[in-house]
Amino acid sequence: MALEACKVLCVVGARPNFIKIAPIIRVLRAPGSGFRATLLHTGQHYDAAMKAPFFEQLDIPEPDKDLEVGSGSHAVQTAQVMMRFEQALDEVGPDLVLVVGDVNSTIACALVAIKKGVPVAHVEAGLRSFDRAMPEEINRVLTDQISELLFTTERAAEVNLRREGIAPERIHFVGNVMIDTLMHNVGRAVPALQVLEAQSLVPDLANTGYGVLTLHRPSNVDDQAVLRPLLATLVELSRQLPVLFPVHPRTRQKIRDTGLDLLLADGRISVLPPLGYLELLGLMREARLVLTDSGGLQEETTALGVPCMTLRENTERPVTIEEGTNLLVGTNPEKIRSAFADVLATGGKVGRVPELWDGRAAERIGRALARWAGVGSASQGVS
Ligand code: UD1
Repeated sequence: MALEACKVLCVVGARPNFIKIAPIIRVLRAPGSGFRATLLHTGQHYDAAMKAPFFEQLDIPEPDKDLEVGSGSHAVQTAQVMMRFEQALDEVGPDLVLVVGDVNSTIACALVAIKKGVPVAHVEAGLRSFDRAMPEEINRVLTDQISELLFTTERAAEVNLRREGIAPERIHFVGNVMIDTLMHNVGRAVPALQVLEAQSLVPDLANTGYGVLTLHRPSNVDDQAVLRPLLATLVELSRQLPVLFPVHPRTRQKIRDTGLDLLLADGRISVLPPLGYLELLGLMREARLVLTDSGGLQEETTALGVPCMTLRENTERPVTIEEGTNLLVGTNPEKIRSAFADVLATGGKVGRVPELWDGRAAERIGRALARWAGVGSASQGVS
């Protein structure tokens, strides 16, 4: 393929997508890159707190198009994205659609693009939890199957892709764009004390230290029979180490609907609104421990060297366990208690930063795309 300028339509939908697209857009819009990048937001995440601070803090340009799909069942949300994206695709007429991550917007746009004959590049390809009850796992497997270019963050991803019959020449191990963003911004992270002050939490937590908790996976928060004992265990542990809990809208709704606010009020868990990127990064950097079911936080804690307890039975990011600071704990109260005690006693697992998590993944993606499209000076360069 040889083009004067390659038109790339970059898609974002949900909060973690914003963090991943920031360095990619920067590379694709750099002078002389050979690309013309358009940014489209599907509108899957629309709350001011879930979107605006990320665009502002990470210098992401305003989307050229916003499909404003909002929330809905998986079928409704996916179908709405597909219907509206088809029209946007016709208007933009790109040479390539670039999708990131594993959210409903990722598969919806990839599917529309491939059926219209537009090749798809998938950033963060090949991750597998091997748990098909996870909506994201379905999104990952399907998106990878229909992608022309697959960019991976860790070695295990290539093994998964090859097992699924993906030709090796389509797979590019480039590193982790989420860590590009982290490295680019860690110096600007809001100091924890300042975040705590803004939440009126200073005198207490500055002395004892704190843990950070996030929960939003449907398997943890949608079923009261899981969420109640999980929160009860965390409330109990918060008496040993106070916990800061920025709450995702999905989780906030479930807690409210099931009356679990009362349970939360019983311990030393401070319930916070969703935080901006620089605020959460500041809190994580200085935390004694992060407890989470998020994929992104597992990776960010590994890059920061902060101990992480993952409150899930599996992870699609094994390198964070094998090399990083991540510990797969699940939701069993006994296991959580014992891992928590261990982290407090020993300071937690010491890890190393995985291969190619060096802040340059987006540059590698840019070079691979330039070679594929035959544009820009990078198309003649080395990988
Ligand atoms: C989505 C992704 C998940 C990702 C997460 C990051 C899918 C299937 N899931 O999950 O992989 O880890 O984003 O946050 O794509 N809501 C609001 N305001 C918003 C967005 C959502 O109030 O701006 C509430 C709505 O009640 C909505 C619920 O949260 O129904 C769930 O939102 P949705 O986008 O469907 O999934 P997430 O749980 O956010």
